[in-house]
Amino acid sequence: MHNPGELAMTRRDLMIGTAASAAMTAAPSVAEAQAGAAGAPTLSKVSFTVNGQVRHLDLDTRTTLLDALREHLHLTGTKKGCDHGQCGACTVLVDGRRINACLTLAIMHDGDSVTTIEGLGMPDSLHPMQAAFVKHDGYQCGYCTPGQICSAVAVLDEIKAGVPSHVSTDLTARPQFTEAELRERMSGNICRCGAYSNIVEAITEVAGREA
Ligand code: FES
Ligand code: FES
Repeated sequence: MHNPGELAMTRRDLMIGTAASAAMTAAPSVAEAQAGAAGAPTLSKVSFTVNGQVRHLDLDTRTTLLDALREHLHLTGTKKGCDHGQCGACTVLVDGRRINACLTLAIMHDGDSVTTIEGLGMPDSLHPMQAAFVKHDGYQCGYCTPGQICSAVAVLDEIKAGVPSHVSTDLTARPQFTEAELRERMSGNICRCGAYSNIVEAITEVAGREA
């Protein structure tokens, strides 16, 4: 028969032994989780149409649309400026709507139709907006220009479709093309060279032709 002191020791020993074995059981799963986080990326298949061509990619699920275009499809016309949704250099058209390609994952666009600056026009057959930017010198270094042009094309479509902006005075009326509307709608596209007045002239010319 054990005395009470011996029983207490036995219970304490048992608890220490149980905790140790629980820790040993848990240890591999923590290690596995850490290895998973730092190890091989999770790949996913994505298929979308880019500039009229169906493309199939196996991508790390964390790949942005911008990196998929630039690094995997080598369409480097779309530029990486801030990579944080603040400059508009990465603007592309997805199903006709403009989007910051740095802020969206490529796998979210399975089945979508993406248009980049390379898909708008070719050197010998420029899109009217590209031609207007050239005519009005709507750029200096040109880094922001692909995003500016994609945005400008979408802006004219938005106005035609009656989408109001923050400066539209009547939200139920079809917005008019004014410089205030244009500047507001293009405000997400930053030009560090300050070519804004020429950009406005270029877009205004195309808007006038399409009106
Ligand atoms: Fe996407 Fe600047 S690179 S907004
Ligand atoms: Fe240089 Fe716009 S032309 S940033």
